[in-house]
Amino acid sequence: MSSDKDNIHEIDIDIRVPEGDDLKGSAKDIEAAVNTAISFFPEIKDYQASISIVGEEEIQALNRQYRDNDSVTDVLSFPLFETDPRGVDLLGDIVICADRAREQAVQYGHSLKREISYLTVHSVLHLLGYDHMEEEDRIKMREMEDKIMDKLAVFREQGSEVSREVLDALCAKAKEMLAFSYSPYSKYKVGAAILTADGEVFTGCNIENASYGATICAERTAAVKAVSEGQTVFKAIAIACSGSEFAYPCGICRQFLNEFIEKKAPVVLIDCNDNVATEVFENLLPHGFSGKDMGIGIL
Ligand code: THU
Repeated sequence: MSSDKDNIHEIDIDIRVPEGDDLKGSAKDIEAAVNTAISFFPEIKDYQASISIVGEEEIQALNRQYRDNDSVTDVLSFPLFETDPRGVDLLGDIVICADRAREQAVQYGHSLKREISYLTVHSVLHLLGYDHMEEEDRIKMREMEDKIMDKLAVFREQGSEVSREVLDALCAKAKEMLAFSYSPYSKYKVGAAILTADGEVFTGCNIENASYGATICAERTAAVKAVSEGQTVFKAIAIACSGSEFAYPCGICRQFLNEFIEKKAPVVLIDCNDNVATEVFENLLPHGFSGKDMGIGIL
């Protein structure tokens, strides 16, 4: 279960197939896909959904039992359209076939992670009443899927480009972090938000100390939070500050980020007047020192 402020987001995930290496992290991906999809429907505040990952036999049996269809499909959605006594919208159940997801990932030339995220988004839309029987409905559903996948950012995992919409959301998060800046000495606030390869966002602010040298910059706070949660590939970073000049990352932060951030990752700066500048990371640290220089190929 995850909660956003005071809202209830109950996402029950049941993986009923042997969990191969390629399914590691899929529970997190499914949760992100559900929450991102629902974020496009602000009227849905509290919700519950159940998602199962099953094998071919199980999905075929379910198709037979509930759809009178003796075949293996990639997904099945069972909408509920009910609200429980707490006022939580019960969206229903989703069943994803692991074998079909694997086949389709190969067929479309993308990762299983991307395929499972897409199938989840597609099924959540079914739970909300979307359909693709008529052409007009199919177009509507596809448009909504694209918007959600764009926000989820899983679709760009192969390249380094991140959509404008995703960067805007990252900037908004970096700005929100200014409120948490602990900067009684400099009175200069910095907020940062990092987008990881999994489409997750980690935020941070500057945290000062009476022993000034112990101060931690906003960028490193965010980076440390991401890496300590297992996210070691950064796709983009946004940095907001309370000053009227952009807060380009300091030298230590550039070196620290260099360990995890893609060379082409956008670094977006926002000043106190909401002016925005974007720079590519490698321009901020040309010839940056990394494990490669020691013959250690981590990235
Ligand atoms: N600061 C950051 O948070 N990030 C940077 O890259 C530059 C500096 C913070 C640290 C300190 O709290 C304040 O700004 C003044 O140096």
